[in-house]
Amino acid sequence: MKAKEKKKITAENKAEIKEEKPDVGIIELTVEPNELDLSISQLAGVGAVTAKKLEEFGVTSLLDICVRGSKELSEITGVAKVKTNVWVRSAQNIMIENNMIRDPDKPVLELLEHQEQLPIISTKSKLDGLLRGGVRPESLYEVYGEFGSGKTQFCLTLAAEVISNNGKIIWIDCEDTFRPRRLAEIIIARGYATDLEDSKKFLENITYYYCPNTEQMMAKVNSLSDIMTKDKPKLVVLDGAIGQFREEYLGRGTLAERQNQIAHLMTHLKNISYYFNTVVLFTNQVQSDPSIMFGDPVKPIGGHIVGHAPTYRIYFKKSGRKHIARMVDSPEDPVADMQFDLTEKGISDIEE
Ligand code: GTP
Ligand code: MG
Repeated sequence: MKAKEKKKITAENKAEIKEEKPDVGIIELTVEPNELDLSISQLAGVGAVTAKKLEEFGVTSLLDICVRGSKELSEITGVAKVKTNVWVRSAQNIMIENNMIRDPDKPVLELLEHQEQLPIISTKSKLDGLLRGGVRPESLYEVYGEFGSGKTQFCLTLAAEVISNNGKIIWIDCEDTFRPRRLAEIIIARGYATDLEDSKKFLENITYYYCPNTEQMMAKVNSLSDIMTKDKPKLVVLDGAIGQFREEYLGRGTLAERQNQIAHLMTHLKNISYYFNTVVLFTNQVQSDPSIMFGDPVKPIGGHIVGHAPTYRIYFKKSGRKHIARMVDSPEDPVADMQFDLTEKGISDIEE
């Protein structure tokens, strides 16, 4: 069975529905996800035993099937990847039919229109110039840099903009450095609230999780589907994620397992940004590369597995009292630098 009959889009009403709700920008759901049958047992080849195995690993809905991807599903169940690929494709098709996600095979002009209308989260500073106006949904952002370079402040600044506009966010804190008071300070300094008390109505828009180890973090990321469906957060922040792997997986013998876990995390984050039409942003630490003789020896940790995953990679660097942001990798922007300051308003322009 696919969607429940009463709400399902049929060949007859599809054009009509599309006309009423153009399929661009924030995807307007024509079916509330909780009215749609998202059970995994409807997939061909998912019997009671396989369903139980998947549930043990937190895969309970078609959204989880998509977010985890065929490789991980194959690892969990022992079912060949060609078959788990079919599960992912079938789950995708059900969601496309019900307008829950963007059709991945959109014609180019429709894709252009869709991307032009995606809601952008601005930092309300000159740093937006580096980001074409701000950060955008359906994208995975990595911000890396040394301690104190402004990674967390960047996340807080974007969070302040979203929640003061009554949008929801999810914040997964791996370093225990999230300070609601600091966020309130940014909100107040930006003129969105008068004092701490007044800012509390915005702070309620945050779902916060502290994950002191990688198991808890992975479990949390894997269980986000329900809250993502319910709250439709505009921003998901993972602060300090990759560094935690480095701390826990010590020595050469653990490298393969560490990279495997990081690869899963990257797949999940990228899929969350696409399937839930949201901005996903994670921060990363750096290490010094002794093989680099000239230029900046600083490089992000996590190797190629992290390097290829983000849609946008941004490097934050301290330079005296100033901070520099560099767009290192982007599908649409050149490598470029922009200076910024950190003040009570979070990311701010440098006073001339
Ligand atoms: P790690 O998490 O340690 O890797 O660093 P990070 O890159 O996340 O650094 P973070 O974003 O926390 O930036 C810390 C810096 O922000 C501090 O060194 C200060 O320069 C600045 N900062 C933090 N809070 C304030 C504040 O309230 N006012 C001002 N003016 N600056 C602040
Ligand atoms: Mg930080």
